[in-house]
Amino acid sequence: MTTRNIEQIVRASTVSEGAGVTVHRTIGTPALRRLDPFLMLDQFRSDNPDEYIAGFPDHPHRGFVTLTYMLDGHMLHQDSMGNRGDLRAGGIQWMKAASGVIHSEMPQQTNGLMRGFQLWINLPAAEKMSRPEYQEFSVTRIPEVVSGGTHVRIICGEYAGQHGPVDDRHTHVTYLDVELGPGAEFSHDLGSTMHGFLCPFEGEILVDRKRVSTHDLAVLGPGDRVTLTSGNTGARLILVAGRPLNEPAVQYGPFVMNTDEEIRQAIDDYRNGRLVRGTQPHRAT
Ligand code: CO
Repeated sequence: MTTRNIEQIVRASTVSEGAGVTVHRTIGTPALRRLDPFLMLDQFRSDNPDEYIAGFPDHPHRGFVTLTYMLDGHMLHQDSMGNRGDLRAGGIQWMKAASGVIHSEMPQQTNGLMRGFQLWINLPAAEKMSRPEYQEFSVTRIPEVVSGGTHVRIICGEYAGQHGPVDDRHTHVTYLDVELGPGAEFSHDLGSTMHGFLCPFEGEILVDRKRVSTHDLAVLGPGDRVTLTSGNTGARLILVAGRPLNEPAVQYGPFVMNTDEEIRQAIDDYRNGRLVRGTQPHRAT
C-alpha cells in the first residue's frame, strides 16, 4: 500500500454567487479548473447576514450533480422536480440535475452563522441527459464513527464498515467529515483509482510534511492511503474522493456538457423554457 502525497495546495478565492452570497472557491478557479470528476467546490462561511441573506434565487443546472453539506444554518430548497427541501445543520442534499433542474436555495435565517460546502460532481456522458433525481438526509441519518477523540461523519462511501446514506452510483464518491483532537493522526485507504482532496474548515492539518490551513484545498497525489495529522488546536476537514470520468468537459456557468454543441443546446433550451423536461416529481429518499 502506498501513501498519497500532496500534489497541489489551492488557496480559496472569494467569489460572489447567487444574488450576492460570498463563497470561498477552490475547485473551479484558474488555479484548479477541475479535479475530475469534481467541477467546483464552494465553501460558505459567514456570520454576517449581508454575505448570505440574498441567497440563490431560481437558477438552472444541467449535466452534473450538486452535493450540499450544511454545517450551520438553515436553507430552504425548492426545485422544478417539485421537491421542497429543508436543509439544516448537519444535513445533506444530493441533486442530480442531469437533463435540467431549476431551483432556488434561500436562507431561512436573518442572523447567525451560515456554514457549509457545495460540491459539483460531473456525470458521465451517458447520464447527462437522464432524468433528474433528488436525495436529502437530515443529520440524524448520517452515521458517525467515534474512536478516541476522532469523529468521522460518513456522508458518501464507506468508513470503518459503515456507509453514508447518499447513493452516488455514477462516480462512487467518498465524502467524510473528519473531526480530530490536537495532534491526532488519521488514516484512510481510498484505493488507487480515485481522485481526491482534503479541505480543512477548522484548524490546520499536516500531510506529506506540508501544512494545510482552513479554506485551503489539498489535492491528493497517486497512491492508496491518505494519512494526516491535526495541528495543536485540533482540526476538522472534509476528505472527498471520486472515480474520474476521463471524458471531455465543456462548461458554461451552470451547464456542464461534453461538447460545445451540447452547451449551445442547453442555453437554447433554457432560453426557450425547455431545460426542464416533464414535471413529474421524483424523490428518492
Ligand atoms: Co444551484
